[in-house]
Amino acid sequence: MASEAKLKELLAQMTLDEKIGQLVQTNGIFFLKDDSELTGPATELELDLDYRKNIGSLLNFKNAENAIKIQKKHIEDDRNGIPMIFANDIIHGCRTIFPIPLALGASFEPDLVEECCRMAAKEAAADGVHLTFSPMVDLSRDARWGRVMEGFGEDAYYTGVMAAAQIRGYKGKGLSSKESIATCAKHFAAYGAGEGGRDYNAAELSEHALREYFLPAYKACVDAGVDMIMPSFNSVCGVPATANKYLLCDILRDEWGFDGVVNSDYSAVKELITHGVAKDYKDCARLAFDAQCDIDMISPCYAGYLKQLIEEGVFSEEQLDRSVMRVLKLKNDLGLFENPYHGADPALVAKLELCDEHREIARRAAEESAVLLKNNGVLPFSKDVKKVVLLGPFATTYSILSWWSSRGDKTKATTVYAGVKELLKDAEVIALDVCTRDYNDEDESNIAEAVELARNADVAILCVGESGRYSGEANSRTDIRLSKVQRTLVREVTAVQKNSAMLLFGGRPLVITEENEYVPAILEMYLPGHEGGSAAARLLFGDVSPSGKVSMSFPRSVGQCPVYYNRTQTNRPPRAQYLDVPSPHNFTSAYLDCGTSPLFTFGYGLSYTTFRYDSMTLDKTKMTKEDTIKVSVTLTNTGNVGAKEVVQLYLHDLVASTAKPVQEFKAFKKIYLEPGETKTVELEINEPMLKLWTPKGEFISEPGEFTVSVGYADHFHFTERFELID
Ligand code: NOJ
Repeated sequence: MASEAKLKELLAQMTLDEKIGQLVQTNGIFFLKDDSELTGPATELELDLDYRKNIGSLLNFKNAENAIKIQKKHIEDDRNGIPMIFANDIIHGCRTIFPIPLALGASFEPDLVEECCRMAAKEAAADGVHLTFSPMVDLSRDARWGRVMEGFGEDAYYTGVMAAAQIRGYKGKGLSSKESIATCAKHFAAYGAGEGGRDYNAAELSEHALREYFLPAYKACVDAGVDMIMPSFNSVCGVPATANKYLLCDILRDEWGFDGVVNSDYSAVKELITHGVAKDYKDCARLAFDAQCDIDMISPCYAGYLKQLIEEGVFSEEQLDRSVMRVLKLKNDLGLFENPYHGADPALVAKLELCDEHREIARRAAEESAVLLKNNGVLPFSKDVKKVVLLGPFATTYSILSWWSSRGDKTKATTVYAGVKELLKDAEVIALDVCTRDYNDEDESNIAEAVELARNADVAILCVGESGRYSGEANSRTDIRLSKVQRTLVREVTAVQKNSAMLLFGGRPLVITEENEYVPAILEMYLPGHEGGSAAARLLFGDVSPSGKVSMSFPRSVGQCPVYYNRTQTNRPPRAQYLDVPSPHNFTSAYLDCGTSPLFTFGYGLSYTTFRYDSMTLDKTKMTKEDTIKVSVTLTNTGNVGAKEVVQLYLHDLVASTAKPVQEFKAFKKIYLEPGETKTVELEINEPMLKLWTPKGEFISEPGEFTVSVGYADHFHFTERFELID
């Protein structure tokens, strides 16, 4: 790898145009067109094709062959022979698709997430990718927002833990390894706080909310060694994130010491005009570069105007050099100067894609991510059944990958039908695609046939949910129930077949309050990836017990949004008996027509076994700031099947100088217990966990009493007190 001195030498020989080129990012297609043809992207960027030789990075190219071809030509054309970075959105797999991050969030298995990302990195690196725009760590409290599928849900601490696991997985043994890719945490910051759950919408939130909830996961990424940060599209407290000096300079660079690359989101620099904070492209370049946004993704601003701004003295060449050096350093860390193709190897892609090992991990991940939301005892179904019917849009036809399934081939997904058939070799398995036309479907024509099939079967599996096309970017919705026809299907089938279970698919927590009233069992699968069907089958028929826990709460009604477990205490808390049901008018912070708690809250999820929590002991009940308290929790599997349980620890500050949440999730461990087995889990309380953000602008811990509880939000097995002393 080149030394820093060598990089400086390189920088010193670069012209202004060449330096600025390093900060310009275009689409792969820009490099694939004939020289004589001025392409769409080139026109949009106001670039003539000759500019290609200067460009520093690109995104959205097709595959390894593409990458090799483009890089080879680029190195020949660039006077300095500087390789480009090839970026892509590897969100939950490259070729082999794992469950969406929101699903992985339900696994509470950071090691498994790391493994999925390791495999995704191997496939991506072989496919020509050097950098992924992942992890996405936007706190998601509003299920209307389509992008909740990309993150780990509603808890800041937990999101940080899972994102750190992703970063470890992608980076593997180090960026220069041919099996590793660099990482980019996004979207900085508070993209998930857009008003009304509408994508790209303004986030107007307090410093308190930012510091306590919305920023910590990005900070966790910085601490975990993330290579890049992407500012969010939205405005945060009035200033678009791309030009937000408070976020990008004061907090990210100065406070957190991040000196990696900041890469704008897609055309976000030029969209400073539509935000209404810049009058033209030059103004956009000025605002974004002033906020130390290093790379301009797909917009004409840096390529067209940064040079002028430097020549006019608005920015110094040292400022430019600082940004260019960050980009060169990343290239150097990736080993691109020695090997510009990194891991690109088309033959290896073919070997890795959906290989047995990757499929196996994809299946395990889908199993660990599924959440049993309800079970009246009907699950697991017996494997001795003679006739099984699968009904609904996800039985055979719908994609179970997602909006962000990269280069994954959806036709190679194991459908629920294929999974059940494979598992139950002797049974008759019938699938009927019903209600396949998404949420605006009005076609009820084959519901009668579905009902008849269900009536005459031993078991009916309702494969329903929301198409993967309705979550993800720009896919916000106000009605997040099942489509009307799917609701009819579920109602009519469960009325005639008591051995029914609902398999629920989709990229967000849907409102299923109505179905929860009468459906015998509900298993949430989210968008489970290539092996979703085999995982579903194994879960439904008891080869494995569900062990996932919800990491983003399910609203009872969309009117509750945003709804999350760690609500702030109020002066008039809802009365305990009205958490789940409408409250009468009694001057409390409640609803007259709906409970205040979510239908399924953070940390909730059932199993095929039962766990008895035997005890919780603390090794001390007073701690200084330097101390830690060891919390030992003993539990026993009291049921008949081996299963995993997530032991969750929550803290609550009894009297503090700010209004604190009713509970805060702070530690966890997922363990496996055989029937009858007892285990003790040790978790730790330390002083940083006790900190709060004060109106004076600092994180401090305040001496006083706290409670520690195990269980899940509002449903605890044990609660003890301890004290922080000076
Ligand atoms: C826009 C999205 O907001 C971002 O998440 C993604 O990385 C970029 N497009 C590039 O595809």
